[in-house]
Amino acid sequence: MPSCSPSITTMIRMDHTHVMAAFHRYHAETSWWRKRAIIELACTALEIHAQLEEEIFYPALSEAMAGDERLAKSKPEHDQMREDIAKLRAMGPQDAAYDARFMQLMREVMHHVADEETVLLPTAERALASQLSELGARMTKRRMQLVAQSRPSAIAANTFGTFPLASLAVMSLGALAIAHCLRPASARRIRRSA
Ligand SMILES: [Fe+2]
Ligand SMILES: [Fe+2]
Repeated sequence: MPSCSPSITTMIRMDHTHVMAAFHRYHAETSWWRKRAIIELACTALEIHAQLEEEIFYPALSEAMAGDERLAKSKPEHDQMREDIAKLRAMGPQDAAYDARFMQLMREVMHHVADEETVLLPTAERALASQLSELGARMTKRRMQLVAQSRPSAIAANTFGTFPLASLAVMSLGALAIAHCLRPASARRIRRSA
C-alpha cells in the first residue's frame, strides 16, 4: 500500500526551518539561561537531523549522485558540526568565546543547509520521486526512537526556553481541546443545535 506520509524532502526542509528559527532567537544580549536553552535545542535538533540524513536520506540518494562531490562532502560537514557542538557543550554561556563559537556553528550550518536545499533536495525529488513518501515514513519512525533516547523532557524545556510564546499558544490550544472534550456531551449538543 502506498505511504501517505509527508515526503522525506518536506521533512528535511521543516527540520532546517526549525533550526533556523532557533538560530534567529539568539542575540548577544540574550539572557544566559535562554542562550543555553537555544543552543541545547538547536544542537539536539541538529544531531538528530544529521543522524536521520546519514541513516536514511544520503544512502537513498547516493545511487542517484554516485561520485558527485556535492554529496561526498555532506558527511564530513556533519562531523565538523558534531565537533563544534561538543566544544560548545564543554563551555558555559558566561565564557567569552561562547557567542563566537555558536555564531561559527550557525555559519557552517547555514552554508550546509543552503547546499542541501539547492542541490541535494531537488536532485532527490527528481531521482527518488516514487520513494519520497516511504522514505518520509521511515524517517518519522526513526525520529521517534532518537527523540526517546535524547531526554524528551529536556527537549520540551528547551523548546519552551527558545520559543516561549509559541509554546504557550500550543499549550493553550491543547487546553482548549481538552476542555472541549471534557465538556458534557449534552452541552456540546445544545451548542451545536443553537
Ligand atoms: Fe545534512
Ligand atoms: Fe539537512
